[in-house]
Amino acid sequence: MNNPHRLCVIPGDGVGKEVIPAAVAVLRDVLDDLEIVEAEAGWETFRQTGSALPPETLDAARECGSVLFGAVASPTYPVEGYRSPIVALRRALDVFANIRPLKGWPISTAHPALDLIVVRENTEGLYGGKERLEGDTAITERVITRAGTRRIARVAYELAEADHRRVTIVHKANVIRVGDGLWRSTCLEIAADYPDVETDEGIVDAVAYHLVRDPGRYDLLLCPNLYGDILSDLGAGLGGGLGMAPSLSLGDQYAIAEPTHGAAPDITGKGIANPIGAILSGALLARHRWQRPDAADAIEEAISRVLEAGLRTPDIAGPGETTVGTEAITQAVRDALP
Ligand code: NAI
Ligand code: MG
Repeated sequence: MNNPHRLCVIPGDGVGKEVIPAAVAVLRDVLDDLEIVEAEAGWETFRQTGSALPPETLDAARECGSVLFGAVASPTYPVEGYRSPIVALRRALDVFANIRPLKGWPISTAHPALDLIVVRENTEGLYGGKERLEGDTAITERVITRAGTRRIARVAYELAEADHRRVTIVHKANVIRVGDGLWRSTCLEIAADYPDVETDEGIVDAVAYHLVRDPGRYDLLLCPNLYGDILSDLGAGLGGGLGMAPSLSLGDQYAIAEPTHGAAPDITGKGIANPIGAILSGALLARHRWQRPDAADAIEEAISRVLEAGLRTPDIAGPGETTVGTEAITQAVRDALP
């Protein structure tokens, strides 16, 4: 029996509500048995219910196993009782592997040579939240564990093996000798289990430099949390902008797909948000969660065709190029599906 693909859909705030319906429509086109459970989270939900991530939403996410998340508009000032729901959801579902493919799509704002996957550890490092103030000194703890490093390195090597990619282990072990030293040696241990995958290593600042100078240089960057966060945004810039960038966070049991961008308040409600990052995030679920590479390929090929035909939302338009809105480009992608 073919199990239905159950998906918990959380549009969230701002343009999340505009791009997620586009991604759902495309996923429905390529997966006959997709079953959608709608759920709410975000700043608006917090203001209505007092909780940014209501327990029903967390239950729905757990029950479906896979989540498609839009964006949340977190306030920049502290609000009593408010915690970012997406950070809480990633933690609750223990999705430790953040996978961000970055590609030189056929648009003038992208580098054609770019074809990179950033694999970022998503639960440790500097983002563990262990901070304290001692007088005028702020101390932030950075935790790297062997177990945490082993599991993210395995995800990276599995991907690299399947996709014939070289792995570059990113670190700063020349300076952060203990923490990045453990990261580096543990990644190299896992590398030894994959003799068919080529491995090299790069110091994080040098990797940033080389990536800008030569976007085609890297195949797969295996990164601790902070380095992966920064390098993947740099890669998103090289790939034509935030509106194009998808991501998938994977754990042993759960998966969360989400476009990299935020709630984009400056363009919310204008009907011009780029849905491609969200649509590609749906394709990542198909490829890595549901083992449906055929569906993922169909979506990615449709997007290529639409971009090659010259359709652009304003964020990816070069000088003099005419632009279309969210609905028109989504319809074009759906029409370009096989
Ligand atoms: P942002 O990603 O929302 O916007 C940055 C710039 O990119 C803006 O000029 C925006 O118009 C543009 N942009 C973003 N997505 C786009 C799309 N799909 N199509 C076309 N243009 C797009 O980041 P910003 O402005 O720093 O944050 C705005 C809000 O979003 C804040 O409340 C922030 O906390 C939240 N945020 C949420 C994230 C998430 O839910 N994962 C990630 C980043 C920010
Ligand atoms: Mg970021």
